[in-house]
Amino acid sequence: MKQILLGVNIDHVATLRQLRGTSYPDLISAAKQVIQGGADSITVHLREDRRHIQDKDVYDLKASIDVPLNLEMAMTDEMLSIATDLKPKFCCIVPEKRQELTTEGGLDVLANVDRVTTFCQKLASAGIQTSLFIDPEVGQIEAAVACGVPVIELHTGRYSQATNDKEFQYELNVIMESAELAQSLGIQVNAGHGLTYDNVVSIASIEHIVELNIGHSIIAQSIFTGLLNTVSELKSLMVQARK
Ligand code: PXP
Repeated sequence: MKQILLGVNIDHVATLRQLRGTSYPDLISAAKQVIQGGADSITVHLREDRRHIQDKDVYDLKASIDVPLNLEMAMTDEMLSIATDLKPKFCCIVPEKRQELTTEGGLDVLANVDRVTTFCQKLASAGIQTSLFIDPEVGQIEAAVACGVPVIELHTGRYSQATNDKEFQYELNVIMESAELAQSLGIQVNAGHGLTYDNVVSIASIEHIVELNIGHSIIAQSIFTGLLNTVSELKSLMVQARK
C-alpha cells in the first residue's frame, strides 16, 4: 500500500504570535521543525480577516521551505490575485465565514459549479494544483469532478465530532465510501479537520486517501511535548542569573 502523506497546518503558531503582536513564535522555524518531524507539505490558511497568517508569512514560507506549500483560501478575487502571484504548489479552496472559529463545513461546489470551474481554471493556468474542501457527500464529489479539479479534500469534521461508537462507525463509513467513489472517478482524495492522536488511525488506514491535513491538535499536543523542557530551561536561566 502506498505511504500516506501528512500536510501540517501551522496557522495556530501564527495565532499565538498575533495574540500579542510579538515576533515570536517564529513561523519559519516552526515550519522547519514540522518538516524535520516528517511533514510532507506545509499548509496555511490566509483568511480574509488575517486573524493568524499574514500576507508576508506566505511569501516568507514559500521562499524558506523545501516541501510544497499548500495555501488554503476562500474563493475571492483578492485571494486569486495573491495565489497567482505567489504560485504555491497547492491551493485548497475553502468556504469562509467571518464569524466562524474554524472552517465549519465544506464548500458548496454543487450550487456553484460554473463559478468554481472558472476560479480553479485560473489557478491551474498559473501552474497551481487546486483542491476543493468538500463534505463527504456524493453530490459534492460529483460536482467537484465536473469542475475538472485534480484533487478534493474531504471534511472530516463530522467524523471527528462523533460522540459514540455508532456515530463514529457511521461517519467513518461515509468517509470510506466517499474516498472510494472519488478515487474511482479519477480524482485524488485528501482529508482533514479535527484529526487527533485518538481518531487519526481509522482515517489513515483508508487506502484511497493520499494525504491528511492536520493542524490544531498538533499545535495543542506540542504543549505537552514541550512544556516541561521550556519551564526547566527558563528556570535554569533565572537561577544562573544569581550565581
Ligand atoms: N483542512 C482544511 C481545508 C482546513 O481548513 C483545516 C483547518 O484549517 C484543516 C484541514 C485542519 O484542521 P484542524 O486544524 O482541525 O486539524
